[in-house]
Amino acid sequence: MSTFQTASAPLKRSRFTDVEVWSAFDTGWSSGEPKSLICCDVRDETRDVKTFTFQCGDFQVLAFEPGQFITIVPSINGQAISRCYTLSSSPARPFTFSITVKRVPGGLVSNWLHENLHAGEQLTAYGPAGTFTSTCSDARKLLYLSAGSGVTPLMSMTRASCDLAADVDIAFVHSARSPVDIVFRKELQLLASFKPGLHVLSVCETIETEPEWIGPVGRLTLEILLQSVPDFLEREVFTCGPKGYMDAVQALLAGAGFNMEHYHQESFDLGDPSSPVVVPVAAPSMVPTGAFTVTLAKSGRTFQMSHDETILAAAKRAGAVVPSSCSQGICGTCKTAILEGSVDMNANGGIRQREIDKGFRLLCCSRPTSDLVIDL
Ligand SMILES: Cc1cc2nc3c(=O)[nH]c(=O)nc-3n(C[C@H](O)[C@H](O)[C@H](O)COP(=O)(O)OP(=O)(O)OC[C@H]3O[C@@H](n4cnc5c(N)ncnc54)[C@H](O)[C@@H]3O)c2cc1C
Ligand code: FES
Repeated sequence: MSTFQTASAPLKRSRFTDVEVWSAFDTGWSSGEPKSLICCDVRDETRDVKTFTFQCGDFQVLAFEPGQFITIVPSINGQAISRCYTLSSSPARPFTFSITVKRVPGGLVSNWLHENLHAGEQLTAYGPAGTFTSTCSDARKLLYLSAGSGVTPLMSMTRASCDLAADVDIAFVHSARSPVDIVFRKELQLLASFKPGLHVLSVCETIETEPEWIGPVGRLTLEILLQSVPDFLEREVFTCGPKGYMDAVQALLAGAGFNMEHYHQESFDLGDPSSPVVVPVAAPSMVPTGAFTVTLAKSGRTFQMSHDETILAAAKRAGAVVPSSCSQGICGTCKTAILEGSVDMNANGGIRQREIDKGFRLLCCSRPTSDLVIDL
């Protein structure tokens, strides 16, 4: 098994910091504005993953930070449905950009994309958003841990580092179901063959599809991590994958004494759409009890709910159609004006202060603290 430990020479800074390069391309596509995208290529990555490449309909270049996502809004059976997808391409190649989508069994949009989106077709999208990016840190020693489609933000970060010849040391450990399910397998091997400081390892749960596989088999363990990245405790860690995987990674790192201040993660999971989003609640003494009446101003419909539920979950339960995507306060799709009343909101980057000042809130991570009238 290869070892990712760096040589003892201090890492030099690259000529440009990532942030300087991204801002040079800034075209001002605000995350709140819809844009028409043209699909220019569709590529099979694995048996259930495809990459869709786009350009802006107005041929603007796209400025984003590696790790950010866009929210696409395909019209499916006459209904506009929003979903977030991370930009898997490198922001240093801004003329086209890609999303890489895994089919989710029973999933509406992922299957629609796989079956219906072809080169030449148009799609509406909302601009790049999200705070899960390696540019948030100055660290030069990085550990990327991903599983399944969680590879996409880390692939964008890796591609960007290669394109910019960034002076970083990246250990990239990806977990897949089996060798044929490793997304970007050939490209990662190629990048690692010429990019100094990039080391890639895949861990496969089963190897039925490729019995000659010589890499680690099973799930990511402390033993695998210690053998392959012995200096992992010194690295800035970025993790993306299913919830179970991320819980296991957190437990593994915390158990090994990793300083979790250097840990960053993003989840693609929505959880059970019918249940409330789990967000930290306010201090017990501040939490109001009892039922509140919520009035939807446009339809005049009312429903009762308690502070235990998010407004999004309660509104959907009451039959209201509320645009939403991430259910985690990160994408901004459920942004709605609160016309009367007050809420507790636990946003995760999906709303700007100036929007909050104008009375908007994210319904997926807001809970009422009084009766409400909302602009729906
Ligand atoms: C920030 C962010 C970035 C993301 N990036 C990527 C990416 O790069 N690549 C990628 O592939 N995905 C990504 N995702 C996930 C993506 O947004 C979608 O959630 C995913 O594609 C599934 O969408 P869907 O419409 O196909 O499935 P949905 O229709 O939303 O269904 C999802 C699952 O829930 C089940 N389900 C649906 N409705 C109900 C219900 N009422 N009760 C119980 N179960 C139900 C379905 O059967 C399915 O198993 C990202 C998500 C976020 C939040
Ligand atoms: S649905 Fe994404 S912020 Fe609410």
